[in-house]
Amino acid sequence: MDLLAAIKERAKAEKKHIVLPEGTEPRTLKAAECIVKEKFATITLLGDSEAVKKAAAAVGADLKGVNIVDPVKSPDFESFSESYFKMRESKGMTREKAAETLKDPLYFGVMMVYAGQCHGMVAGAENATGNVLRPALQILRTKPGISSVSGAFLMISDNKQLGENGVSVFADCAVNPTLTAEQMAEVAFCSAETARELGGIAEPRVAMLSFSTKGSASHEAVDKVVEAVKIAQERYPDLLIDGELQMDAATVESVGQSKSPGSKVAGRANVFIFPSLEAGNITYKAVQRFAGAEAIGPILQGMAKPVNDLSRGCSIEDVVNTVALVCCQ
Ligand code: ACO
Repeated sequence: MDLLAAIKERAKAEKKHIVLPEGTEPRTLKAAECIVKEKFATITLLGDSEAVKKAAAAVGADLKGVNIVDPVKSPDFESFSESYFKMRESKGMTREKAAETLKDPLYFGVMMVYAGQCHGMVAGAENATGNVLRPALQILRTKPGISSVSGAFLMISDNKQLGENGVSVFADCAVNPTLTAEQMAEVAFCSAETARELGGIAEPRVAMLSFSTKGSASHEAVDKVVEAVKIAQERYPDLLIDGELQMDAATVESVGQSKSPGSKVAGRANVFIFPSLEAGNITYKAVQRFAGAEAIGPILQGMAKPVNDLSRGCSIEDVVNTVALVCCQ
């Protein structure tokens, strides 16, 4: 069974409840129909009930079994906006602004997850990444011991020599424009968890990437990666991690062993941590487009409860798959 089929099977067993705040968005509506028919999650769509039904009729989506909640008419609206106000009061939030903000389904959806009414949220078919992330970062915040949320991709290649039988994790490809050494170490830890939880990788081997391998170049950008490896080794002693490594030293056994002899990771890495969002985002798209690898994600890792972002170019299948991922997170 391929990885996505396995994730869907697991999702079926989890029976989670997921909120999709973009309730009038055509691909989201078709995906909601498909998920409920396949019975792998309960779905709540947000929006004005008549507008949602009209949009569904326009694309021929059957919403039987799908819940529709209009944030403004919801009996939870007042308590959610009061909770949000209290959470953000020290940041200058007022009751009026909180009520206005909660009319935005992205904020209302995250509050449903925060309140435990839904297990997770998926959005982004019509909203930019930053707009999906901001309410989740403000309200749900991070898991204990983690300070930064990051975005990973499961990269699936036909070349079974790469990663773990063709499956690799790339991060951070979606969230933090710049990373400190501390954040890079955390991304390494969270990505190893993602590799285990969602990638089916029993032994994550983490390469901390750079344009240098073991001192072949000197630059402050290299120093940051070296520092990140040191922090990760101290904080997570069980993590198999090495760096700084160039991409070839991380992936090609002969190059890895000549440049980092004796390393358990070099030449055999299956988790790849990039030193900046530029490097991570450009590389995952290059591997996807030039090499034809399948890219599943971004999977937001480190958040206290799961929220995942979609690309605005997503297909119905992408929405369905992302919901399945959230169910397993
Ligand atoms: N982890 C945890 N919390 C965070 C993080 C993070 N990585 N980043 C920001 N926060 C918190 C802040 O601490 C702040 O909390 P507070 O308001 O309680 O103090 C809150 O989130 C808002 O943070 P800001 O610094 O004001 O950041 P902003 O809202 O401007 O942006 C964001 C945060 C949206 C993540 C921004 O960094 C961003 O836009 N990143 C790039 C996203 C992107 O465009 N990715 C590429 C496309 S995705 C793709 O191609 C797959």
